[in-house]
Amino acid sequence: MSSKMQVRELMHQPPVLAHPGMSVSDVAQVLDANKVGAAIVLTGDRIVGIISERDLLRALGRGMDPAASIESLLTSDPVTVPADSPVAEALDLFRTHHFRHLPVVADGRAVGMLSIRHVVRVAHIEEVRPAGSAPTVAPPGLEGVAVAETAIGDVRGEEGFFHYRGYDATELARTCSFEQVWHLLLLGSLPDPDQLRAFRQRAARARELPAGVAELLTPIAQVDPYVPLDALRTALSLAASALGLRPTLDATAPEIEEAALRMVALTPVLLTHQFRAHRGEVAVAPDPDLGFAGSYLQMLTGVHPTAEAARAVEQYLILTMDHGFNASTFTARVVASTGADMGAAVVGAIGALSGPLHGGAPSRALDTLDAIGTPERAEEYLRDKVVAGERLMGFGHRVYKTDDPRSTLLREVALQLGGAQAAFAQTVEQTALHVLHELKPGRRLYTNVEFYAGVVMNTAGIPREMFTPTFAVSRMAGWTAAICEQAAHNRLIRPSAVYVGPAAPRPLPAGYQYA
Ligand code: ACO
Repeated sequence: MSSKMQVRELMHQPPVLAHPGMSVSDVAQVLDANKVGAAIVLTGDRIVGIISERDLLRALGRGMDPAASIESLLTSDPVTVPADSPVAEALDLFRTHHFRHLPVVADGRAVGMLSIRHVVRVAHIEEVRPAGSAPTVAPPGLEGVAVAETAIGDVRGEEGFFHYRGYDATELARTCSFEQVWHLLLLGSLPDPDQLRAFRQRAARARELPAGVAELLTPIAQVDPYVPLDALRTALSLAASALGLRPTLDATAPEIEEAALRMVALTPVLLTHQFRAHRGEVAVAPDPDLGFAGSYLQMLTGVHPTAEAARAVEQYLILTMDHGFNASTFTARVVASTGADMGAAVVGAIGALSGPLHGGAPSRALDTLDAIGTPERAEEYLRDKVVAGERLMGFGHRVYKTDDPRSTLLREVALQLGGAQAAFAQTVEQTALHVLHELKPGRRLYTNVEFYAGVVMNTAGIPREMFTPTFAVSRMAGWTAAICEQAAHNRLIRPSAVYVGPAAPRPLPAGYQYA
């Protein structure tokens, strides 16, 4: 985006118009037909307000009659932006007022509508920088902003494609074992048979718990309430200390690589040890004859897994090892950029992963299936949720604006594994997509990885509370590769923020004293 770019170049034109006497359902239809999120409300030529789909949905959610007029819902006398203003000015208005849409005017008439989406999509960090030394302002959520270089992998949201070191990740998941892809991420290449044999042996040795850790895992798992991901976070922190991991700033590259290998290898051991201890069951040792995924399943359930279940989980794990500059990978790199040790960086990443907007959704998606119960209830249930302003778990993605390739493969894996749940999930998915298309027009919401991840894990015998921790098991391979990369080309990540509080410096209130 050039700093001289004007609002007229980005706005939606002509604007979608409404008048105050129109009904809620009429305006909803107009917005839907034009695939926009808001309309300008006019009386004659005069702009009297703005009405958004969000306003309509909220009102309907509160029980408003769809035949009622929009008059009480619109935002009156909205702030407008001239068509020839620089886009950077509009960005400031969005930011300071928290608007999502701005009516655009020229010669006193409404000529277009500017949505924050238009601006954010094209905003480039360098070019929205005002002249002088003021800090560059990035869009909310850093959407569309590249903050580092990486050779580990990338996501091309518009194409529905992601890769690890250039290889299509879904092809890797169809073709390779966990260990082959892990080798690719950590060491940079797909291993030949000898390299793979050596890597498997090295990884098997790395599963051994450091001295003093095993006896502390049970007390951690007995903390009430037991939250497996929290307990894993604590256990990893403990294991990293027991291993004496040095700050990445001081450690050599081979030391950092070994720390990375240890963190990935230990994660399933720590996690399953605690899970079983919490249930009063003895830990199951890793089985040298099983691959990473099969061994994880066996350590978790205590039962030798079927080849189908082990392969399904392996494919899930490969598909979720890495995914561009997602929130937890970014977190890991921020911590690593301070020169902290590998343990500190992966513990930070787990914190980021724990949020429902990132890794905490697969069990919620399955909860939705349970709450729906039968296919006939799907439409009404999902519709009510969206109208009430709630999000459907397992749908939508910051980067994918088309099918998420992970969900496409996981749908296949789930259907291959079989069972009633996979077929039911497919019906619910179709209904949800149709409801989102109708009630959230233009938002490009598709099924994300989490929707079928829950079905695959459940059918393979992984308990629901272990879904997000299982995600951590695979993502550990991506985090640690990213941390190694950060350490190899480090610069402290230290952005700034735009101060929006009271003008500074402020005098203290008169007579205000130490107390
Ligand atoms: N259900 C209903 N509406 C949705 C959903 C959803 N799942 N996702 C986004 N929307 C709507 C929003 O309400 C918003 O509509 P509005 O403009 O009318 O307000 C619009 O789509 C854009 O939403 P944003 O929040 O701006 O989209 P963002 O890119 O920030 O969000 C996210 C992405 C967080 C994944 C979101 O889609 C979501 O909350 N999904 C449900 C939770 C989920 O499935 N999480 C797992 C993600 S996958 C992963 O991290 C590995």
